[in-house]
Parts: sequence; C-alpha cells; structure tokens
Amino acid sequence: MGRRIAVLASGRGSNLGALLDACGDGRIDGRVVGLFSDKPASGAVERAREAGVHAWAMKPNGFATREAFDAAMFDAIAAVQPDLIVCAGYMRIIGQAAIARFPNRMLNIHPSLLPRHPGLHTHARALAAGDAEHGASVHVVIPELDAGPVLAQARVPVLAGDTPETLAARVLAREHPLLVATVAAWCGGELGCEGGIPRWHGAALAAPLQLDGEGRLRPAA
Ligand code: GAR
Repeated sequence: MGRRIAVLASGRGSNLGALLDACGDGRIDGRVVGLFSDKPASGAVERAREAGVHAWAMKPNGFATREAFDAAMFDAIAAVQPDLIVCAGYMRIIGQAAIARFPNRMLNIHPSLLPRHPGLHTHARALAAGDAEHGASVHVVIPELDAGPVLAQARVPVLAGDTPETLAARVLAREHPLLVATVAAWCGGELGCEGGIPRWHGAALAAPLQLDGEGRLRPAA
C-alpha cells in the first residue's frame, strides 16, 4: 500500500520529479498524494498535473495574512491524510502553527551542509566562505528556519573555478538521490523522528547519515 506523501514545492520541481519516479518504480514504498504550492505557475505544479497528482496552488497575496495562507494550505494538506510531508524546494517560510500540526513528520531538503549556510544563496555563500566541501541536507522541519535535526547529507567537493551555478548543478545532482534515499528509508521504517530525536533502525542518530556513491545512506564514519 505504501506511505502517503504530500510534497510542497515552489520551483521547477526536479526534486518532486525524482520522488515521483522513485514512487513509480518501487524504490520508495509510497505515493505522492498531493503537491502543494505558493506558485501556481511553477514547474512543480506542471509536473504534478502531468503525473496525475492532485495539485493545490494558490498565490499568498490573495490572503489577508501569512497565517491565513498557511491555514488554507495546511487544511488542504490535512485533507489528503499524509503520513509524511516533504518540502522539496518550497521557498516560503512556514509559520509555527502550521508546523505544529505535523510534528516530527515534515522534512525539508536544503542545499547546504547544515548547520552551515541556512537560508538563501547557499552556493554563493559556500564559495565566498572558501568552503572545500558543500552539499545538501534533509532535516526535520521545526519553527526555526533550517534548524531542525539533520537526518542525512550528501557531500560534493568545491572545485577551482566554480561559480554558484556550476556548484548548484553539482549539488542538485546529489540532491535527487539523497531525497529519494531518505524518503525511502522513512517510508520503509528504517528512519524516523520521535520527540525531535532522529532514529535509524530504532537507535538515536548521533550524526547525519551520509549518502554513498551508490545512493545508499550510511552512518557517518
Ligand atoms: C533545490 O536545490 C532545493 O534544495 C532548494 O531549492 C531547489 C529546488 O529545486 N531548496 C531551498 O533552497 C529551500 N530553502 P527543484 O524545484 O528543481 O526541486
């Protein structure tokens, strides 16, 4: 039967596409039961509709307050009865009240090795900081931005001559297998989060899992 996954996205939707493909071919024991967006004209909404996935998309400026938009979107999310909510390039800050409706089961993929570079422009910031290594993280969403427990990471080298664009492309190529492996582990019951503590095969996870070259999650060395 599989887990019911709700995806939130604002952008082109390549991470959504990776999830749809992996649910389709059985790498993830689950299915995407809805796509929720603050950008009705986004590629993510188009991808969902092409795949026959229910898509809810509204512009926030039609709502009186940030909380009113969140409440409408999270009512729509609750209506699809998700087991898991995945923010896959959702670029709007989610308020505390909405997050509190789904504690410990909302994940976000962020394009940096958290806790380094929360927020925006992560690739340019990694270059400006002279980082030798960069990457992506999947973490549990809590009210503080990009600060929830990190479940898994994928690392890439920063190369001489990199621009924010070349570095972003190298990271994105690893984001897709990272998100698929993390969501697959979650849906398979190997990975979870209880009371804010990530668990891997039942034991508390002391450090983020690392994505290996074969797209598998491994405990940090
Ligand atoms: C991804 O790089 C994701 O990590 C990032 O947006 C991009 C979405 O790409 N997310 C954030 O920056 C969240 N703060 P996609 O629409 O092709 O999946």
